[in-house]
Amino acid sequence: MSKKILVTGGLGFIGSHTVVALQEKGYEVVIIDNLSNSSLEVLGGITKITRISPEFENLDLRDKQAVNHFFDKYPNIEGVIHFAASKAVGESVQNPLLYYENNLNTLVYLLQQLKEREAPKFIFSSSCTVYGQADELPITESAPVKKAESPYGNTKQIGEEIISDTCKVVPHLKAISLRYFNPIGAHPSANIGELPIGTPQNLVPFITQTAAGKRDELSVFGNDYPTPDGTCIRDYIHVMDLARAHVVALERLLDDEHNGNYEVFNLGTGKGNSVLEAIKAFEKVSGQKLQYRFVDRREGDIIVAYADTTKANDVLKWKAEYTIEDAMESAWKWQQKLEEKSKSEE
Ligand code: WQD
Repeated sequence: MSKKILVTGGLGFIGSHTVVALQEKGYEVVIIDNLSNSSLEVLGGITKITRISPEFENLDLRDKQAVNHFFDKYPNIEGVIHFAASKAVGESVQNPLLYYENNLNTLVYLLQQLKEREAPKFIFSSSCTVYGQADELPITESAPVKKAESPYGNTKQIGEEIISDTCKVVPHLKAISLRYFNPIGAHPSANIGELPIGTPQNLVPFITQTAAGKRDELSVFGNDYPTPDGTCIRDYIHVMDLARAHVVALERLLDDEHNGNYEVFNLGTGKGNSVLEAIKAFEKVSGQKLQYRFVDRREGDIIVAYADTTKANDVLKWKAEYTIEDAMESAWKWQQKLEEKSKSEE
């Protein structure tokens, strides 16, 4: 009998790729998504890849009763991977209460349900944002968590504390927080990928939309940073590597291999690339010259962040395998698929 796993936000970018990875490992998946930042078409994309249509519940985790009813309806959930959250840094500054309600109340309601169960396993989607601008590079899990630069980042920090505090008094709750660096790319089949609604905030969807002619040019936010080429450095990790890491982390809990009942892991490649290097990687794999212009720095941007991946490599026995070129190639293939689709719908 295959184990049933709940994936909240399972129609989102990282969530959908993780659903595919779970199904391919033989898990039964139930998705909760309120479609606020995704679309039902993603369910079709997942099914096209795995030929298995996950169960889907369109519900809002801010509705405590709905969360409780969900767990009554699905008493045999063996693990939860929790992606559902708002994640736009800039929007969180403008609308902090939306972020504190949507990212934290929902976490509390889920944990209140899980602590009543026999052997709950919980994977939390966290972010390298918790480190702010780290003083030491590469960044290890023991790097100090600094004052968040945005309500979004604060919800990730507080979320980790909520889980850690709960695990201290609920010994049968086993949890892992995964701190992502910069997720990019798409499934190689181009059936699922990043679906930014409106103007993309993140670098790679803006690059691919510019190359597709949907944007006139990419604005590079600052080239006067203290880095080799003056642009910011990030650890860009392929979403396929990230999805696989979620399955590995979940299985660590299901197989009772964890140390203590709460652990934290960085998920990155361990390599930093500047914005200009990311652009060059895209131009190389797409054969397209990208239109871009240097503009002022973006408020709140940190200068450099890339992961020390020793802990995930040694403890999870997981290592990122794809390169930034692989990720750019898959992102471009996905963008071209989106363009074909929108042309056919005109
Ligand atoms: C990357 C680099 C920009 C857009 C954020 C969140 C993080 C995670 C990933 C959710 C920076 C530059 C970007 C553009 C640019 N999100 N850039 N022009 O800010 O590192 O991380 O998204 O979990 O938590 O903080 O990612 O892709 O926005 O920016 O020059 O149009 O690209 O200045 O140097 P970021 P990003």
